[in-house]
Amino acid sequence: MFASIARRYDLLNRVLSLGLDGRWREEAARAVFGGGAKRVLDVATGTADLALALKRHRPDAEIVGVDFVEAMLEIGRHKARRRGVTLRLEQGDGLDLPYRDASFDAVTVAYGLRNFADVDRGLREFYRVLRPGGRVVVLEFPPPPKGMLGAPFRFYFLRVLPRVGGLISGQESAYSYLPDSVLKFPPPAELARRLGAAGFTEVHYKLQTFGVSALHIGVK
Ligand SMILES: C[S@@+](CC[C@H](N)C(=O)[O-])C[C@H]1O[C@@H](n2cnc3c(N)ncnc32)[C@H](O)[C@@H]1O
Repeated sequence: MFASIARRYDLLNRVLSLGLDGRWREEAARAVFGGGAKRVLDVATGTADLALALKRHRPDAEIVGVDFVEAMLEIGRHKARRRGVTLRLEQGDGLDLPYRDASFDAVTVAYGLRNFADVDRGLREFYRVLRPGGRVVVLEFPPPPKGMLGAPFRFYFLRVLPRVGGLISGQESAYSYLPDSVLKFPPPAELARRLGAAGFTEVHYKLQTFGVSALHIGVK
């Protein structure tokens, strides 16, 4: 699915988030370097927007991005070349990361975890490749709150977004999958609990833009 929308993916992120997605990733990048990381793994890196934000914050840090869709990575490599930035973007599965135990100071994942076939297994893999004291930083779209408060979000997610996404990408199914995956994803408090169950401590989270996006942080 991601291979089929790769070319329009960045444009759609800007349009569908009303230009806010860059700000959410910037906040995640700040959270990573608040922990003094030098070597960072960005899982489900896609077209490398978070990996590039990380590099902007700390040009001397080594940033590795991993994703299993080569078409997304290729766009990321092109963007890195255009900006004269060195990123290592590699093909690999977030559920079975091709890296040694304790080999990164921080692990990030932006809007990728809800696509994992097994979220808890993914969290355990992040824990495995982190060094003790390292941080995990997760950006994800929580399900909209129940009741009236969530009504405008649900309207946007279920009615507007699949149409606009389908029109621009030409792949209607990909953009009806997006709200489906968001509605099935655990709410922030439950994700925090599952980070704890995977072994992380000091787990906390912050809602971004009235809870449209959430930033979770944990420490190994
Ligand atoms: C919504 S995109 C997010 C991309 C990027 N992190 C961003 O912030 O724009 C989700 C990405 O997760 C990747 N993905 C999903 N499951 C994966 C897995 N098990 N291993 C590696 N990548 C995965 C997809 O290929 C896709 O590129």
